[in-house]
Amino acid sequence: MDDQTWTAVDAWWTGTLHAPDPTLDAATADSAAAGLPPIAVSASLGKFLHLLAQSIGARRILEIGTLGGYSTIWLARALPPGGELITCEIDAKHAAVARTNLERAGVASVVDLREGPAIDTLAALTGPFDLAFVDADKQSGADYFAECLRLSRPGGLIVVDNVVRAGKVVDDASTDAAVLGTRRLAAAVAAEPRVEATVLQTVGTKGYDGFLLARVR
Ligand code: SAH
Ligand code: DHB
Ligand code: MG
Repeated sequence: MDDQTWTAVDAWWTGTLHAPDPTLDAATADSAAAGLPPIAVSASLGKFLHLLAQSIGARRILEIGTLGGYSTIWLARALPPGGELITCEIDAKHAAVARTNLERAGVASVVDLREGPAIDTLAALTGPFDLAFVDADKQSGADYFAECLRLSRPGGLIVVDNVVRAGKVVDDASTDAAVLGTRRLAAAVAAEPRVEATVLQTVGTKGYDGFLLARVR
């Protein structure tokens, strides 16, 4: 089994279970046309986040790392009337592309896109949030986790993307800043009595990676 099989299976299941979605396709196409990197969550994992948010009745969602707004659209669509999503993005060009995509998706009115370093945006926020999706610079994962924990309601969920990175996370000798950041996050989560956590390894159109899922007690 290899990446080609994972991609084919991911595409097959998405084609089988997901309704055609021109709005999301346009967000992907316009993000690519604007030169954004192709690192948004896959359709399968976007829908997984959407279903997770709906399952816990999330009314306030926090996202760290907007890019072109692809995962933002999936999460915003899970909100009930009156719900809101705050998403953090440092790159002005990414934020501009995201604003167009969010507008077209009809979710701009429920999404508050905050431009700037996420750590500064987070410091100014007050909770409670029901769900946080952490998907920005991997060096800062432990700092984002600490802020998400402060902002979460009891029973809230914190999901962190890219915690496996093709298995690099278990390389004790790695000097890669993203790997070191993920390992610092792992130590912080392991030592944190206020959460219960696990990791779901994933394969698909984005290769071999994984989500960390933490539930706040
Ligand atoms: N969640 C998106 C993908 C995010 S990619 C999706 O699945 O569709 C990571 C994003 O985090 C990039 O757009 C990058 O510019 C942003 N980012 C990186 N460092 C950041 C920081 N310090 N503060 C806020 N955003 C940051
Ligand atoms: C990268 C970042 C991501 O958030 C992701 O899901 C995949 C790759 C990256 O920076 O390479
Ligand atoms: Mg990611």
